Amino acid sequence: MNVHTFKDYYANQVRLSFMRDPFSAVPGHVWVICRYQGRWLLTVHPRRGLEFPGGKVERNEPAEAAAVREVWEETGGKVAELLYIGQYEVRGRADTVVKNVYFAEVDVLVEKNDYMETEGPLLLDELPKVLQKQKNYSFIMKDEVLPLSLKEIRKRQQKK
Ligand code: GTP
Repeated sequence: MNVHTFKDYYANQVRLSFMRDPFSAVPGHVWVICRYQGRWLLTVHPRRGLEFPGGKVERNEPAEAAAVREVWEETGGKVAELLYIGQYEVRGRADTVVKNVYFAEVDVLVEKNDYMETEGPLLLDELPKVLQKQKNYSFIMKDEVLPLSLKEIRKRQQKK
């Protein structure tokens, strides 16, 4: 199994793989790299900053459903196509988090009054090349998960 091993922004150990459910069949979290009309669709988290939408999977909820729900709640985006990309595990001091990574094409962006715990959507033509020192970006965007997942997405799109 091809596993990428590295440290996150806070020096927690991360394992990432693009196989199907390598660390858990029931991941606790999901993270969704989103596109809308040829742009990146992010959400503005009040504490963490800019990040792709995601969050916790609810009890008895399939991970794919959680991905679609989180995109809707945090951006107002309706997912037209959802693609499983991979899974990563973060070993924190207190607990271990397992998160599925998806790629989503959003076809409708609805303006809402409430984006749950976030401040809503943000569209970008380009992601900054280096995110580590960008104060307005979330720590979850600052380790190898994002560049490796983007590379995997490009690879899959070339195969189409
Ligand atoms: P909420 O505040 O309710 O979202 O939950 P929480 O504070 O308990 O955090 P959560 O369960 O989402 O995550 C627990 C810890 O796991 C965080 O403090 C992070 O250290 C780590 N973590 C969660 N998601 C990610 C991620 O996408 N990337 C990295 N590197 N660490 C993560």
